[in-house]
Amino acid sequence: MIIIASANGDIGLKQGMDILKKGGTAIEAVESCCWPVEDNPLDNSVGYGGYPNVLGVVELDASIMDGKFLRAGCVGAIKGYRHPISVARKVMEELHHVMLVGEGAEMFAKEKGYTAENLLSPEAEKTWKDGLAGKFGPEWANDGLANIKALISQASALATDPQKVAGTVNFIAIDGHGDMASSVTTSGWAWKYPGRLGDSPIIGAGNYCDNRYGGAACTGLGEIAIRTSLARTTVMNMRFGMSVEEAVRAAFEDMRALGMPKDKVNMNMVAMDAQGRHFAMSTNPTADYAYITDSMDAPALIPRARFEV
Ligand code: GLY
Repeated sequence: MIIIASANGDIGLKQGMDILKKGGTAIEAVESCCWPVEDNPLDNSVGYGGYPNVLGVVELDASIMDGKFLRAGCVGAIKGYRHPISVARKVMEELHHVMLVGEGAEMFAKEKGYTAENLLSPEAEKTWKDGLAGKFGPEWANDGLANIKALISQASALATDPQKVAGTVNFIAIDGHGDMASSVTTSGWAWKYPGRLGDSPIIGAGNYCDNRYGGAACTGLGEIAIRTSLARTTVMNMRFGMSVEEAVRAAFEDMRALGMPKDKVNMNMVAMDAQGRHFAMSTNPTADYAYITDSMDAPALIPRARFEV
């Protein structure tokens, strides 16, 4: 049994492994692993404390995938619910749909008993206001939403700091039955245009998992993973005989076709084959990922391979 994660997921790995050790499923584990990250106010890329959209509203995306039957559940641009991963799981298990967004996702979360709350932490609100004021002058912070709405597109283009767009958390697990599952949860691109969806809720882009071959999940600039179908491409590379490392490297090669300036290509992936062999890659020079097995008491962080675009 094993669970891998993006580095910021290390705080969730132990409780996920405890579930697997008690006979729980990979789906239960990858959902549970997300909760401490979604609760963490210091993680500005996930759940409570996530950086908001350009209007100062936290909008969350999440997806979960069951590798045994290729079932999936996703929510996009959901406001006010700090555990979108659990809403996504309920979409997968209780609806005939795969994805809900916006008001529909919020209606469903409420129907399932989740309590709505303000997810904008004081620290995230200050960073949002300071960011706008720093770029456009103090009247932005003072005049509030009227000005922001007038220049909304320009303001959403402010999120060029890789630390603000590269967040998100990924988990991929193999349980005691050999079944796989994967989860991704995020607040997305800081100061994004309202309604923007990244790769995290898009099955095949930011998340994909298939018991027969393996799983892959992404963090970074979601638009890139959407345009390259990065997660499913990686898993299909494994299907056609590549090792997990070869599969990730070949999928990343596609990013060279995007015509983007090299310094704007910001992408990270964790991947694991059906036998539990794992590999992670990043366009950033130094990046880690995390994993835990049933023989470990605590998760370990190890370096990702670097991909030079
Ligand atoms: N990878 C997260 C996002 O772009 O929203």
